[in-house]
Amino acid sequence: MADVIQIKDIANYDGQEITLQGWLYNKTHKGKLLFLLMRDGTGLVQCVAFRPEIGDELFEAGKELTQESSLRITGTVRADDRAPGVPGGFEVGITAIEPIQVADEYPITPKEHGTEFLMDNRHLWIRSSMQWATLRIRATVIKAIRDFLDDHGYLNMDTPIITPTAGENTTSLFEVDYFEEPGYLAQTGQLYNEANIMAFGKVYAFGPTFRAEKSKTRRHLTEFWMVEPEMAFFSLEDLMDMEEQFISYIVQTVLEKNKAELEILERDTTSLERITPPFPRISYDEAVERLNKIREETDDEELKELLKIEWGDDFGSPHETELTKQFDKPVFVYHYPTAAKAFYMTPVEGRPEVCRSVDLLAPEGYGEITGGSERIPDVDLLMQRIEEYGVNADHYRWYVDLRRYGSVPHSGFGLGVERTVSWICGSGHLREAIPYPRMLKRMYP
Ligand code: 4AD
Ligand code: MG
Repeated sequence: MADVIQIKDIANYDGQEITLQGWLYNKTHKGKLLFLLMRDGTGLVQCVAFRPEIGDELFEAGKELTQESSLRITGTVRADDRAPGVPGGFEVGITAIEPIQVADEYPITPKEHGTEFLMDNRHLWIRSSMQWATLRIRATVIKAIRDFLDDHGYLNMDTPIITPTAGENTTSLFEVDYFEEPGYLAQTGQLYNEANIMAFGKVYAFGPTFRAEKSKTRRHLTEFWMVEPEMAFFSLEDLMDMEEQFISYIVQTVLEKNKAELEILERDTTSLERITPPFPRISYDEAVERLNKIREETDDEELKELLKIEWGDDFGSPHETELTKQFDKPVFVYHYPTAAKAFYMTPVEGRPEVCRSVDLLAPEGYGEITGGSERIPDVDLLMQRIEEYGVNADHYRWYVDLRRYGSVPHSGFGLGVERTVSWICGSGHLREAIPYPRMLKRMYP
């Protein structure tokens, strides 16, 4: 057996004999030629057997292999521009085939399948090229997030997953029985982050986040991954400056590292190339004006109805979609109505009906990918807001303490990994941006 190599490295082995180990993605034969499209997790390459060269027995064994059978192939690498594959440009002239397991009839064939069927077979579906490409981009996004933050002085701090109280809102909590006391799966690590910055300055939490969302939209999961940077002495403007650098870095890193994957997804990359600072910034007031203007100018009665909005309402996805169509970069919307947002956000001075909050809306209709704010630094106001919120103030004693022992102005935000991945990949639904999605009525596999 020749050296085992990975398909991603195949260009380094032009003219050499190598061994690949993996799975059969597809198979065709034509007379004395057998084409085995093989994948090994890192890429996809066409391997070609010529009957007179490898002999009848091996040729027949190769022909018997079914889709997704596991196997080893030994052969000689040769450059060929027309060869299909990822990274492409090379094929393998087979000298030996070693079947490992001949797969049962594989349920996912190249024909069309319904989404429910594919979701039931998610454990197999992740082998398909578009899913494979999406999940590889997800890994790049996660690494880019960590690299950027680690390199810019943010300390990674893990925050608890089992918590005594709501962090974001009381309507989407998953309750767990914590030794006969109610506990809740974390909706955010933010409140703990706020304690952490008083010890470390700039931190980030990065972990799974849980929301018992009863809504069945393409933008909501019940379990998703969120990265939450939190910074002492940061204003809302500082926050926007940082976010646009951060998001641009993530997108540019994917463009650099995942060309092949973006190609598999047929993603129009020109819209991603534009993602560089600065991003446009508009207030909530201006956003509402823009929406009303769209309503006035459109002849589309359905759209008019969908975009109905009263000052004070939170945006739904049609609002976000129409707004973002007006920009070719992500757009910051700041100073939302206080009543529409979480309890911890600082009211705007002289105008307490709006707060120092900012959401970032992705272009091409992808909607909110980050949500953040300046946090209330004042003890009395924070206690009052907790009271109004209608939760057990006792659970927030430690959080209020932070305003007693060296309180400082501070800000932070959360970025949803799946929303970001789905936007970058141009995919229609968040369920494809995470290996095993958890949604309303979906916990399998
Ligand atoms: O806007 P959210 O709810 O903000 C917070 O949780 C803050 N405590 C974050 C902070 O300031 N540290 O959530 C932040 C982001 C959203 O912009 C969205 O990208 C994502 O998390 N997100 C979801 N992603 C998938 N499914 C859901 N159900 C999501 N809910 C929020
Ligand atoms: Mg939000």
